[in-house]
Amino acid sequence: MIADPSTDLTAPDVIIVGSGAAGLTAALALADRLKVLVLAKGTLTGGSTAWAQGGIAAVLDAGDTFEDHVRDTMVAGAGLNRRETVEHVVERAPFAIDRLAELGVPFNTEGENLHLTREGGHSHRRIVHVADATGWAVQEALLNACHAHPNITLLPGQTCIDLITGHHELRYSGSGRVWGVYALDEISGRVEAHTARATILATGGAGRCYLFSTAPRGATGDGIAMAWRAGARVANMEMMQFHPTCLYNLDTKNFLITEAVRGEGGRLINPKTGKRFMPAYDERMELAPRDIVARAIDSEIKKFGLDYVHLDISHMPPEFVREHFPTIHEKLLTLGIDMTREPIPVVPAQHYTCGGIVTDLVGRTDLPGLYAAGECAESGLHGANRLASNSLLECFVFGEAAAADILARWDSFDAPPPVCPWDESRVTNSDEEVVIKQNWTEIRRFMWNYVGIVRSTKRLERAQHRITMLFNEIDDYYGSFRVTTDLIELRNLLQSADLIVRSALKRHESRGLHYTLDYPDTLAVAKDTVLVP
Ligand code: FAD
Ligand code: SIN
Repeated sequence: MIADPSTDLTAPDVIIVGSGAAGLTAALALADRLKVLVLAKGTLTGGSTAWAQGGIAAVLDAGDTFEDHVRDTMVAGAGLNRRETVEHVVERAPFAIDRLAELGVPFNTEGENLHLTREGGHSHRRIVHVADATGWAVQEALLNACHAHPNITLLPGQTCIDLITGHHELRYSGSGRVWGVYALDEISGRVEAHTARATILATGGAGRCYLFSTAPRGATGDGIAMAWRAGARVANMEMMQFHPTCLYNLDTKNFLITEAVRGEGGRLINPKTGKRFMPAYDERMELAPRDIVARAIDSEIKKFGLDYVHLDISHMPPEFVREHFPTIHEKLLTLGIDMTREPIPVVPAQHYTCGGIVTDLVGRTDLPGLYAAGECAESGLHGANRLASNSLLECFVFGEAAAADILARWDSFDAPPPVCPWDESRVTNSDEEVVIKQNWTEIRRFMWNYVGIVRSTKRLERAQHRITMLFNEIDDYYGSFRVTTDLIELRNLLQSADLIVRSALKRHESRGLHYTLDYPDTLAVAKDTVLVP
C-alpha cells in the first residue's frame, strides 16, 4: 500500500539531509513553524563539523572591518568569488556568533571580549574559537537544541541514495520538482521513500576522493552526486583545498594540526636543512593562504626527497601551547610527540571541497523544491580557494537563509504526490564485496597521484580514462546487487571524482587551488567552471 503524503499528518514538511552545522542550523530556523525531519548517514556527529579545530571567522575586533574580511576572502579566492555572496556572508557573521553563544557554545574569552585567534590569509585577528576543538562544541550545542525541539525528528543511520523527483511520481507530471529522498536504513537494510514539500541537502564535501584527507570517512560527495544525477548544475569542482599541515604518522593518517598553530607563531622548517623555508616562497610566510603554503611544502618535499616537513612552535612558552592547543597537545603526547619541546612532522592533505551544487543567495538550487547549504554547495563565497574558518560561517549563514526562504514562500510549496516505492525486484545480495574495496582504494590513489596539488593535462587524462572504466564496472554492480552504504558511497565517490577531473580539464589556467603545469598563468578574467548535467 502506498501512503498518500498529502493526507499523511505525520509526514514532515521539510527534509534535511545532514546533521552538521548547515543542516542543524536550518532545522532550528524552520522548526518553530514547520515539522522537520533530519536524516543522517551513520551517527549524528559523523560529519566534518564535529572535527573542526580552528574556529569561525567574524569581524569583532575594534580595528577590523567588513571591507577587510571581504577583501581577504577575495584575495584567498583568487578573484573567483561572487562579491555579493562574500558581502552577504561576512556581514552576517557577528549575528551567527551571537546565536551560537545563545545556544551555549563556550567560546574562549579574554576579559570582557571573545578571544580572537589568527589564521592564514586573514589581515586581522578574527577567529572565534573554543580552544582547538571548536567544531565539537558547535555540534554539541546545535544537537542539544534540536533534540529539545518538539518539531525536529533526528534520524541517524539513514544513507540517502537518490533524490525523489518528478520521474518517481506515481502519475508522472513531467516536472523537475524534488519531493524528498530514497534512503537506506543501515540497520534493517530496507529502502524507504521519505517525501516532503521542500528538501535541503547539507551533506558536506567529497574529501574522501583522495588518499590523504583530513575529512571524515563519510565525506564521499553524496549530496553533490545526488543533485547532479537529478539534474542540478555543479561548479568549480576542481577547487579542492589541501590543508598544509596534516600530521605525518603512518598509523594516524588524518589528524589535522590547526592553522592556528601557525597563527600563534608556529614555523615551517625543512628537516634536512634545519631552515625555515616559507620566507623564500611568500612575504606573508607561514600565514600566506593555504594554496601557497601547501604548494611550498609540496615543493620542499619533492626537491629534498622528504617524507614530511616540520611545524615548530616549541619556541613559545609551554603553558601557552598547552592552553591554546589542549586537544592537539594531548593527542600528540599519545603518539610520543611533545609539541612544547619538539617539532611536529606534517604533510599537506585534502581538506575542503570549495566547489559544489550551484546555489543562489538563499541556497536555492536549479531544481524546484531543492536547497543546498554548507560544504556541498557552491554559493560563490570561496571562489578558487577558501579562506580559513569561513566554512563553518557559510553553514550558519546559508542554513538560516535557506530556512528563511522556505518560510517566506511556504504557501507556494505543493504537498508531495504519491511516489513509486524503491524497486528491488531485479537485484540480489552481493557476493563480491571485494569489488567495492578495490575500486574505492583505486579512486583515492589515482586522485591523489594525478589530480592533486600540482596537475597536468596528461595526468588528468589518465585519471579520466580510469574513471570511464570504473563507471562501467560500478554501474553494472549497482544494477545487479542490493544497495549497501559502501556501494552507495563508492558510486558517489566516483561521480564526484568525475566532476573534479572534468572541471580541472576545462580550466585552461592556474588559479587558486587549481595549479597545472600546462597552463601556469592566470587569465585576466576569472570565470566559474560550470558543469551542466
Ligand atoms: P558536515 O558537517 O560534513 O555534515 C555532513 C552531514 O551529511 C553528516 O551528518 C553526514 O552524515 C550527512 N550525510 C552525508 N551524506 C549523506 C547521505 N548520503 N545520506 C544521509 N546523510 C548524509 N571550517 C571552519 O570554518 N573552521 C575550522 O576550524 C575548520 N576546521 C576543520 C577541521 C577539519 C579536520 C575538517 C575536516 C574540516 C574543517 N573545517 C573547518 C571545515 C568545516 O568543518 C566543514 O566545511 C563544515 O563543518 C561542513 O559542514 P556541513 O554541515 O556542510 O557538513
Ligand atoms: C584549521 O583549524 O586549520 C582549519 C580551519 C579551517 O579549515 O577553516
